[in-house]
Amino acid sequence: MAERRECGPWPREGEPRPAGRARRLCVVGAGYVGLTAAACFAHLGHDVRCVERDAERLGTLLEGGIPIHEPGLAELVAAGLRSGRLGFTDDIGAALEGAEVAFLCVGTPPQASGEPDLSLLAAAAREAARHASGDVVVVVKSTVPPGSCEALELVCAEEAAPGVRIRVASSPEFLRESRAVEDFLAPDRVVVGAEDADAAELVAGLYPEGCPVVVCDRRGAELVKYAANTYLAIKISFANEVAQLCDALGTEAQAVLAGVGADHRVGPEFLRPGPGYGGSCLPKDVAGFIALGEAAGTRTTLAAAAEAQNAHARRSVVHRLELVLGGLSGRQVGVLGLAFKDGTDDVRDSPALQIVADLVAAGAVVTCYDPLAPSFLALGTRAATVSGAIVGAEALVVAVASEEYQRLDPVTAARSMAGRVVFDAAGILDLERWTAAGFSVYGVGRGMPLAFYPVVWTPLRWTTAGKSPGAEAAGA
Ligand SMILES: NC(=O)c1ccc[n+]([C@@H]2O[C@H](COP(=O)([O-])OP(=O)(O)OC[C@H]3O[C@@H](n4cnc5c(N)ncnc54)[C@H](O)[C@@H]3O)[C@@H](O)[C@H]2O)c1
Repeated sequence: MAERRECGPWPREGEPRPAGRARRLCVVGAGYVGLTAAACFAHLGHDVRCVERDAERLGTLLEGGIPIHEPGLAELVAAGLRSGRLGFTDDIGAALEGAEVAFLCVGTPPQASGEPDLSLLAAAAREAARHASGDVVVVVKSTVPPGSCEALELVCAEEAAPGVRIRVASSPEFLRESRAVEDFLAPDRVVVGAEDADAAELVAGLYPEGCPVVVCDRRGAELVKYAANTYLAIKISFANEVAQLCDALGTEAQAVLAGVGADHRVGPEFLRPGPGYGGSCLPKDVAGFIALGEAAGTRTTLAAAAEAQNAHARRSVVHRLELVLGGLSGRQVGVLGLAFKDGTDDVRDSPALQIVADLVAAGAVVTCYDPLAPSFLALGTRAATVSGAIVGAEALVVAVASEEYQRLDPVTAARSMAGRVVFDAAGILDLERWTAAGFSVYGVGRGMPLAFYPVVWTPLRWTTAGKSPGAEAAGA
């Protein structure tokens, strides 16, 4: 356990404060969700002990480092350690001492069936219950199917010492990686599912003052997370569906989708075409939503369609590049981006990584660049800079929407690359500048040449209706 010092008076003037009073909390799991929650709760004034069982991760934290990349998180962790309001340990018993609430933030990875694997969560709940010396509200932050909290409460009851009451509540997490701290401290909403009003009030009171709170029963709270992520996935897949149509029609999807998203009932977010969704949450939660429907005997056709459209989007970048280059075997390709999105080091189920893997599988010679993705990835050659990834390349793929890649100067790129093909899967390059520098620019919904998608254009048929086939060609 890191050294703990006396907490000073809190909150200070102008600092964020919790809606209720400051409390002693235990957070289990120091990943993207757990570490962010622990640091932010400490920032709000709570006294937080965070349990991590991975020795390497814990070692990094005890040495004052952080094991993941998240803007603003290192500063909050350091401040928490300095103030004594945050500590790390592998001893759940010590972390639970005096804690009124324990948050479970461990992974729930997908299984082949689409259902999440809850074994880590069940083990964490058992450990918490076994070590609790007083009444605790165990809050499940991990994403779990409806009914899980009820099941976990039974598990906890089996393990708890006589006279210790463990209530299990749900408070799913909605933070976005790369914006985890800001999302946690200023969430769109906090969702709390509990069986009694007292537990709901206790949990809701831990979050920042003034944020909207949705209180419901536990199954409802658990379902909010699946439904929200499935909706976002459907939106992204819809954008890609529109983009495919735009390619076939030779028009720009970004403009079309800007027009669609400007309607406040739709909204512009998540309405950008690209190489498909990925990461540790959306694919897993869509699969979980479909598995839920199967188990409950309800139809989940929209979710299944989003999944199918996404699989197509993820394959089509390399497929189309192959068409453009007339084959990939032995062709040198530079790829910018490996993480599942900009600003994170997380490569779990990353579309960019799939692009690289598909290119390598097709025989391309790939050099990739990503400033944050872990160095152990052994796919293609890893360059230390953008320039290193593009030198000598016959084609360049921009796989992640990053400002760093957007800043790449096309004239410089033209001097360094062997070819003049750019596939802007992320949709961030300035078409005019890159075209002016001599590049053929392709992308998702950027109006691919009609030769790839021959279209019988219905309006054209109307204007030529009643004329003989030869009349149109003759300009009649
Ligand atoms: N990553 C996200 O953006 C995000 C957003 C919202 C919700 N979620 C959900 O939150 C959950 C956690 O996601 P994550 O990305 O933070 O996972 P993660 O894998 O990054 O972190 C989980 C951590 O828990 C630790 N752990 C596991 N069992 C433990 C135990 N018994 N005691 C102590 N430590 C233990 C692991 O070592 C790991 O460090 C998942 O259910 C996920 O679906 C994730």
